[in-house]
Amino acid sequence: MSYYDDFVPHQGLRPPRAHLDTDAPRLVLDGDWRFRLSPVADLPADFVAPDFDDSGWDTLAVPCHWPLRGYGNPWYTNVVYPFPVDPPHPPEDNPTGDHRVAFDLPDDWAGRRVVLRFDGVESCAKVWLNGAELGFFTGSRLRAEFDVTPRPGRNVLAVRVHQWSAASYLEDQDQWWLPGIFRSVTLEARGDLDDVFVHASYRDGRGTLRVDTSVPATVSVPELGIEVASGVAATVAVQPWSAERPRLYDATVATDSETVRLRIGFRTVSIEDGVLLVNGEPLALRGVNRHEFHPDHGRAVPYETMREDVLLMKRHNINAVRTSHYPPHPAFLDLCDELGLWVIDECDLETHGFFFTGWERNPSDVPEWRESYLDRMRRTVERDKNHPSIVLWSLGNESHTGANLAAMTGWVRDRDPSRPVHYEGDADCAYVDVYSRMYATHAEVAEIGQEPGIPFLQCEYAHAMGNGPGGLAEYVALFDRYPRIAGGFVWEWIDHGLRHPSLEYAYGGDYGEPLHDGNFVIDGLLFPDRTPSPGLLDVKKVYEPVRVTVADGRVTVEELRPVPPLRFEWSAGDLSGELDLSSGSAPLPELPSFAGETWLTVRAVLAQDQPWAAAGHEITWAQHQVAAAVAPVVGGGDRPQRTGSGFSLGPGEFDRTGRLRAFGGLPVGAPHLALWRAPTDNDRGENAHLDQTWHALGLHRLTHRLDGVEAGETLVVRERTAAAALARGALVTYEWASAGAGLALTVSVEPDGEWPEPIARLAVAMPLPASIEHVTWFGRGPGEAYPDTGSATLVGRWESTVDGMQTPYVRPQENGRRADVRWAELTGPDGGLRIAGDFGFTVRRWTDADLAAARHRNELRAGAAVWLTIDVGQQGIGTASCGPGALPEHVLTLRKTAFTVVCTPLS
Ligand code: GAL
Repeated sequence: MSYYDDFVPHQGLRPPRAHLDTDAPRLVLDGDWRFRLSPVADLPADFVAPDFDDSGWDTLAVPCHWPLRGYGNPWYTNVVYPFPVDPPHPPEDNPTGDHRVAFDLPDDWAGRRVVLRFDGVESCAKVWLNGAELGFFTGSRLRAEFDVTPRPGRNVLAVRVHQWSAASYLEDQDQWWLPGIFRSVTLEARGDLDDVFVHASYRDGRGTLRVDTSVPATVSVPELGIEVASGVAATVAVQPWSAERPRLYDATVATDSETVRLRIGFRTVSIEDGVLLVNGEPLALRGVNRHEFHPDHGRAVPYETMREDVLLMKRHNINAVRTSHYPPHPAFLDLCDELGLWVIDECDLETHGFFFTGWERNPSDVPEWRESYLDRMRRTVERDKNHPSIVLWSLGNESHTGANLAAMTGWVRDRDPSRPVHYEGDADCAYVDVYSRMYATHAEVAEIGQEPGIPFLQCEYAHAMGNGPGGLAEYVALFDRYPRIAGGFVWEWIDHGLRHPSLEYAYGGDYGEPLHDGNFVIDGLLFPDRTPSPGLLDVKKVYEPVRVTVADGRVTVEELRPVPPLRFEWSAGDLSGELDLSSGSAPLPELPSFAGETWLTVRAVLAQDQPWAAAGHEITWAQHQVAAAVAPVVGGGDRPQRTGSGFSLGPGEFDRTGRLRAFGGLPVGAPHLALWRAPTDNDRGENAHLDQTWHALGLHRLTHRLDGVEAGETLVVRERTAAAALARGALVTYEWASAGAGLALTVSVEPDGEWPEPIARLAVAMPLPASIEHVTWFGRGPGEAYPDTGSATLVGRWESTVDGMQTPYVRPQENGRRADVRWAELTGPDGGLRIAGDFGFTVRRWTDADLAAARHRNELRAGAAVWLTIDVGQQGIGTASCGPGALPEHVLTLRKTAFTVVCTPLS
């Protein structure tokens, strides 16, 4: 057995200890290293001697994942292992990267103890200094430290990294497999303060601090007047730490040889009467799951990107993060302490692929793996124990259940009783302190909320894959309602799309992986370049910390969670002003009467700069209608006229079959019934398979048969719409009537046969000239909205372009629908049209079929027409890609319907 083929997690490592900001000198070894890639692991270690000639090797900038630097390829799987399941053996094909770097020992380090630290290496590394073997380690996202004795002057570090090892069985997280030294490598000249453990609790206005250290030291917190010996408790008046008010106190812990700087936050986590509390207050986790990801660097995430993540979370009202599914870079946790996020810190553990063996030989219950489990938990807790932001420890993810997991809890409870233990896989709650579920339905969450028991949270919910998540607002309403529910964490923060020269962003299969899970890795609230998706904007609205309501002539604000000072701005039509809501409510501003539909918008914005956003940043808003719409003019007196080629009526030219051919001089196509949409990831999801239902119903290939055309007062065209091979269909009447300068189109739909299954949408689609470019509308905007998404959208007048109305989902799918629209104007250099009514619409340069066929956005090409689809119904989005489908009230079926839109030409 080789070290990479063994249950033993490491050899030669120092015991784990806290991540410390010390004044001990450091030498960061990041930079250009020498690199050689081999296809297998079983190689002679010919390269470890200091004088080995590596001049023929490549240069690699460490930290990085080598597949993202041109050596081999990334590989994506969700649950399945990308190698045969025969623990503890890795496959023979085992890409192995040999690394070498030389460094000069600073002169003043002579005689000091020195530690060599690796912050992240996937998945197994063996290390030599100046030819002498130091040992090996596994635990990709865990810290590893060796005691080393560098010699004065030049030293050579040699590291052999294997992509696969026994430990890969414990690291089956749903993400790209990305080997390499992907976090920093550091040398630290040690003082004597190897470890520090901060205990800082809070109760009734007072904090108690005790700092345990590996050797006696002095603890000072100047701001609090604390100066005590390590191990001695001091109790003083303090302000507590919380995600909303992340009050930190600068402290030092010092011996003669070393000073460690700490930022201390006082808080106490407790569970009382089944409610999770911090500082005696119920914890309301409005969270998100965060994998470390950058489209160019994978999990070698630059510091600025980590900071951007925290800032984006704060600006979108997210107050909690689960570090799925491993401890993040330590700097990320410092940012959570500083800027304020509640954290569930999760151990680097997942064995999901054993699901396919019926959990047989699952490491969680196999004694040989016990030490690895305990080792992973120790290395997680010891490194991260001093962060006030961490309020729960998580044992890992999707590793079923077993004695090794229970043993991890046993160790945690002994070492750090101050934080409850989380693990979703412990269905019986035998060794956890909170009950956790993923993707439970709304109904079940409501039921759990009503049952007595230990605190409950959804460690994953609202799967943000592609268009969605639908049903988010309804979940958060349940969190708000039941004290037992501590909240939940949306899955997940960012799409793991890797930047690709031709595909824009790559997902599973794009590197020719023999086994992969496609675009299941594209399921975040941020697009890969960190642009917020519509889903994140919805999250911001439903996670609002204050709720503004307008009713009975008053504007009222309710604080759901502590917020910094706010200002309240209102606007209606061209008018605007400020409201004084300091007493909690105020009368509506005096408003004149408005000529058309008008809404009052009240925005809550930051009154002062905060570390995470500037004054004026919008926290939330509310709207209230203050003037109703004026009914459109219908009936202009014109009647259809026969022409040589068919009919004309007002601005419309129709062919002999009564089908529209031109409108206001623009060549257009006739509107026809449309019941399909390019399936979303959620439509395709394993819990819905709506794409298959729609396929079986032929909704994507409907045909339209003329049943009659009558020209009287109005022009009436009757069609039967149906799909080949199917008996059922829909009887559709299109009635064109004069309406001022335009035409009113009334569409009446009647099912012909039984249609019990959900349809995608109830709409008409028509081609417009490709010259159409600009879009202006009054309705919900600026972004997309479906029946169960779009909490973020406001009613108003919005402007965009055809291209700007497309939501750039990495895998193309239905998107960009604007909802509750009263009118829309579509224009271009050759003219355009205005449509008024009450509808939703999409407008795009390709057909639904093109959209559905494309695997990547680069496949979408502008066609000869701009397709306009006007709908009066859409199937809800739901989260069936990994969770429940749309709620019953958002399921759309074909029903007898009639609707009218008024179309007017625009020059
Ligand atoms: C969960 C899992 C996550 C992710 C998600 C689906 O079961 O914990 O890691 O795979 O499903 O995207």
